[in-house]
Amino acid sequence: MDLAEAARHRAGEEQPPAQGANFDHQPFDGFGCIPSGLQGRPLRNSESMKIHGQHHRSLEADTARRTARILDQTMLPHEVVWRELATLEDAAEAIQVMRVRGAPLIGATAAFGLCFGLRAEASDAGLEQGYRVLHATRPTAVNLRWALDRVRHVVQPLPASQRAEAAWEEALAISEEDVRTNHAIGRHGLAVLRTIQARKAEPTAPLNVMTHCNAGWLAAVDWGMALAPIYLAHDAGMKVHVWVSETRPRGQGASLTAFELAQHGVPHTLIVDNNAGHLIQRGLVDLVITGADRVTAQGDVANKIGTYLKALAARAHQVPFYVAMPVSTLDWTLTDGIRDIPIEQRSAREVTHVVGLNAKGQREEVLITPTSTSARNDGFDVTPAALITGLITEHGVCDANAQALAKLKNA
Ligand code: MRU
Repeated sequence: MDLAEAARHRAGEEQPPAQGANFDHQPFDGFGCIPSGLQGRPLRNSESMKIHGQHHRSLEADTARRTARILDQTMLPHEVVWRELATLEDAAEAIQVMRVRGAPLIGATAAFGLCFGLRAEASDAGLEQGYRVLHATRPTAVNLRWALDRVRHVVQPLPASQRAEAAWEEALAISEEDVRTNHAIGRHGLAVLRTIQARKAEPTAPLNVMTHCNAGWLAAVDWGMALAPIYLAHDAGMKVHVWVSETRPRGQGASLTAFELAQHGVPHTLIVDNNAGHLIQRGLVDLVITGADRVTAQGDVANKIGTYLKALAARAHQVPFYVAMPVSTLDWTLTDGIRDIPIEQRSAREVTHVVGLNAKGQREEVLITPTSTSARNDGFDVTPAALITGLITEHGVCDANAQALAKLKNA
């Protein structure tokens, strides 16, 4: 038993999928990596997210108060502030101003928000109004619609008096499943990392993984997507180093991914976004893993602005480019991502200004452009399927094409 296997054994985890099972351009051959039916399976070692050594989740349900508690991501990395969400408006505001962000976490928060809305008004009109308000908060991440559809589907046939409680149970189920799903993504991604590590000219040298934005536990209920394999690899004793791109304009890499990795003790180095191509060209990146906000039926991926440039550089230098995402991020209604995925247009102020702590430790926003300069702020871009080495899902690693993805439809 090697070190990694021993660590997994100690942690009581299942074995990861056989190396090479479903990746590296092999056709996706089904769902053999883990048994189907993630819901309800006992999951040991299910805690990734730790702040100052204490386990938390990005969103925690308070079953006694029937409210949800979120970690306010607008305050990170300098302050750890928790907020209680008790109303539809609380949830919508938290998503809109990005106190919560990242596709799976947006979905889970919206599910609780719809429940809170039903508590105030459980009629059909109340349900539709709540759905509309929450759906309008952010346009690109499809998990928002997925979670709202799921709650609506459960509560619609019920009498009004039962709806809020049923929505609460469904929101809880969405959150719990998210943790299991992301842990499974982590296990499949770990097999990818191990294979790439074994192929390195110097297999004992650290594996250099580049990521973009934040697709870690802060973007989900726990574990995260792109960072889940990295946490499992680190915990299993693999030497992993992460290139963290700052992700202007909101800086999710600098403020959130760096925060997570530091809390977990994973070696990492912050780079400006424009450094990515240079590092890839110099052979300092073994693979790139990003998350996704929406993936089309043919495998085009919408993710944080700047993802596409990394994929282009990776392809030019034959560096594997993986996307880690739950199946709930697939939008089966769309095919051509460049044509069809709605791209969020955000405030120009995020581009013309920078927020940080001043010398007195106070949060401050400063202007970095001439006052007359206008700015454009596309929140996301689309990476065509052809540039993607594989999609790491909870069911295994899948080629980014329509045929392979179709097998996931009823998984
Ligand atoms: O605007 P955000 O911070 O909500 O966007 C999130 C992203 O785009 C991340 O890059 C992430 O990879 C997708 S969320 C799983």
